[in-house]
Amino acid sequence: MSADVAPPAPRPKSTGLHKVDPSGEIRPGVAKVDPIVVVDGVTRVFGGLTAVDVEHLEIPRGAITALIGPNGAGKTTLFNLLTGFDKPNTGSWSFDGRNLAGIPAFKAARMGQVRTFQLTKSLGLLTVLENMKLGAPRQTGEHFWASILPFLWRGQEKQYEAKARELLARFKLDAKEKDFAASLSGGQRKLLEMARALMSDPTLVMLDEPMAGVNPALTQSLLDHILDLKDLGMTVLFVEHDMHMVRHIADWVVVMAEGKVVAEGPPDTVMRDPAVIDAYLGAHQDVDLGVVTGRYEGELPAEAQGLVETAQELDQAIEQDAEHMEESEDDK
Ligand SMILES: Nc1ncnc2c1ncn2[C@@H]1O[C@H](COP(=O)(O)OP(=O)(O)OP(=O)(O)O)[C@@H](O)[C@H]1O
Ligand SMILES: [Mg+2]
Repeated sequence: MSADVAPPAPRPKSTGLHKVDPSGEIRPGVAKVDPIVVVDGVTRVFGGLTAVDVEHLEIPRGAITALIGPNGAGKTTLFNLLTGFDKPNTGSWSFDGRNLAGIPAFKAARMGQVRTFQLTKSLGLLTVLENMKLGAPRQTGEHFWASILPFLWRGQEKQYEAKARELLARFKLDAKEKDFAASLSGGQRKLLEMARALMSDPTLVMLDEPMAGVNPALTQSLLDHILDLKDLGMTVLFVEHDMHMVRHIADWVVVMAEGKVVAEGPPDTVMRDPAVIDAYLGAHQDVDLGVVTGRYEGELPAEAQGLVETAQELDQAIEQDAEHMEESEDDK
């Protein structure tokens, strides 16, 4: 791409996603106008630790929802529960109006709900194209009788291959179709995982930290791919630590801390919610806030380094919001 190409115009955010309370406040668990996922009373306990404790949560259909929260908040565990990769201690949830509790992962995927993993799961010793074909739904050749009668599956195989190639081209991985997935970069593996998820024409795509380990040069293209999913009519739920990315593409943000949903709302308002700042800082009560904000010099424990970035990002986000609000005031 040459440098003089203008950046794409920002795409409009989806608004009017939640049912408005007469108080005007948005409380955690707020009802949505058209929810695609509804979670009720879901808990997951590991030993003595309650990793997930979600009273009520609705994910809006046709929008991009970001699930944020400090490390260990329970985001991945909630993903595992909703997608049938793990079983909750209590609770129920529905997807597209159908009860999903107790439904294993492969069936949830058939119903139109797919996910990617925080640590990519592409199979290194398969080629890129073979990895893609694993994402195809209901493969006739997998059944014993069908597998020994090739005429039953050859047509389908061709169809899937064509679709795989089309998706690989969209994700600019077509030149790599014969390469082993192990030879791809971290970012390319993320793209492959996302492309593979689309093989089954999902209605809900769940992405766990799609940006983690992605080279900055690939970031914009990954963001565009996620925005494309919405334009194609899919619902997206993604976990992300990068606040700029969240602000840029999310229509709605759900904040988790210590297993619970502590805040939700459109990105611009949720970032200013004191519960969110508490959630991030609460996990590090022993850390000197002066050091985090840069007012005092001092040593931070390694695991709290991320806080500095988060604090700066929150700060910037709040500043940008303030500027934005001043500008729109001026317009009036
Ligand atoms: N299989 C497991 N066995 C025991 N504890 C677990 C297991 N999986 C997760 N946990 C614990 O549950 C809590 C929530 O973990 P989870 O991975 O869901 O957090 P997360 O929000 O995804 O964090 P991160 O942002 O670091 O990915 C953590 O305290 C974690 O140590
Ligand atoms: Mg996680």
